[in-house]
Amino acid sequence: MSNNWMTRRSVFLATYGCQMNERDSEEVLGMLTAQGYSVTEKPETADVILLNTCSVREHAEERAVGKMFELCELKQEKPDLVLGIIGCMAKLQQEKLFKRLPKIDLVAGPAELYDLPYLLAEIQEKRQQMMAVARPVRPLEMKQHDFHRPGVTAFVTIMEGCDKACAYCIVPMTRGREVSRPAQDILAEINRLVDAGYQEVTLLGQNVNSYGKRFPDGTGYQGPLGRMRLLEEEPESLFDFPKLLRLIDSRTGIKRVRFTTSHPIDATDRLFAAMEECESVCESLHLPVQSGSNRILRMMKRGYTVEAYQKKIEALRVRVPDISLSTDIIIGFPGETDDDFEATVRLMEAVRFDQAYIFKYSPRPGTSAAAKEDDVAKEIKEARNQRLLALQEGIGLRRHQALEGSQAEILVEGQGRLERQWFGKSRGNHAVIVESPDNLLGQLVPVRVTRGTAHTVFGEIACIGSSPLSVQPQWGSPPSR
Ligand code: 5AD
Ligand code: SF4
Repeated sequence: MSNNWMTRRSVFLATYGCQMNERDSEEVLGMLTAQGYSVTEKPETADVILLNTCSVREHAEERAVGKMFELCELKQEKPDLVLGIIGCMAKLQQEKLFKRLPKIDLVAGPAELYDLPYLLAEIQEKRQQMMAVARPVRPLEMKQHDFHRPGVTAFVTIMEGCDKACAYCIVPMTRGREVSRPAQDILAEINRLVDAGYQEVTLLGQNVNSYGKRFPDGTGYQGPLGRMRLLEEEPESLFDFPKLLRLIDSRTGIKRVRFTTSHPIDATDRLFAAMEECESVCESLHLPVQSGSNRILRMMKRGYTVEAYQKKIEALRVRVPDISLSTDIIIGFPGETDDDFEATVRLMEAVRFDQAYIFKYSPRPGTSAAAKEDDVAKEIKEARNQRLLALQEGIGLRRHQALEGSQAEILVEGQGRLERQWFGKSRGNHAVIVESPDNLLGQLVPVRVTRGTAHTVFGEIACIGSSPLSVQPQWGSPPSR
């Protein structure tokens, strides 16, 4: 290893895809900074460039490949530069990536995250390409690296992988089987975040509602030991996601808890009861429905009907009346007819989501849906996309207008676009802008909603009793996000 390498190591890391990937990237930077790397925002100044990639749709893959093509140019000036593709696309495409991008040095899957410091050192020393994609699952019992981006909200991984088999979805092939992280580790990480000033955590997993099914040691409610003990002093009980929420609520000092993603099949009344009863758990739920047509849901192998989905929402709204709901919808799944699409429109009109993420179907090689012809024409997908976007825009606007005059608590995450404007999220996950000459960063502030627009809500700081809230600046500069 050259001295040069030892003295000026810096890493550039770009992330594609979901919040799990964002969190993985934080961990990678945590490991590498612990080894003496500095983090750079400029790829031209980096000694190691990593792209943490996503395979959920073709578009995400092509963007990452295009970016790496560009970055390969940097090697002409700097032959020692290490270029790596990590994450889902690495797991999926493996050596094909070396064929498409012969100048790259590293291909490492999501389960090999903790091997990266070793892999990078090997590449640097031996100057050879390396591929690490063989692990079936990530060793989640390993210490997490506690590097979180500065701010007031943090991601905390609680489980990895997916045991479902939705026809369109590549995730089970990239992230492997479900594995849950031991509860003690999660509680300890959240308490450390609280000590560091974070006010909100978002618990992450491909299907958080499967939490507890299988732990790294093979135990879990569907593992060989069936029911198991939560913590030493707990009696034997079902160690599932609602229980984890209750533990976080009672044993950590975190003010707000969110979680994503939930599969409707596993979102049970036990979960809704925990959401109702735990003060820290925010009144918001992301529950991807994917389609409003039972025929399409069957073909997607989602395991529920539209009616069952709506019943769950009704049950949740009884327990948490002001729940804010978001969803994912795929349009143009193979065989989707006008009637199927109209059923999705009807579902969106009936449920009135606060937010809906609309995706055009993208065939993923190796999934069961990829065997079917991608038969919904591009123009039809685009027209359906536009129609749902417009529909949701109207629903979002009306939901936000309905908040006018109500009170909400916001957690201020950053500055707004204009001077003296502050941006925060309500417990219902609405984006709220308030004005104040004071530095509100990092504070929980009561506001009265004055105006709702399609994507944002405007408010003013609410008075407590007769005197306006007194706010103490806590942060010197806004978080980098
Ligand atoms: N094509 C389009 N959208 C997809 N999603 C997952 N797989 C595909 C695919 N092949 C969407 C789903 C999922 C979200 C994260 O991405 O809606 O909930
Ligand atoms: Fe994909 Fe989510 Fe289904 Fe898992 S639960 S296969 S991640 S859509």
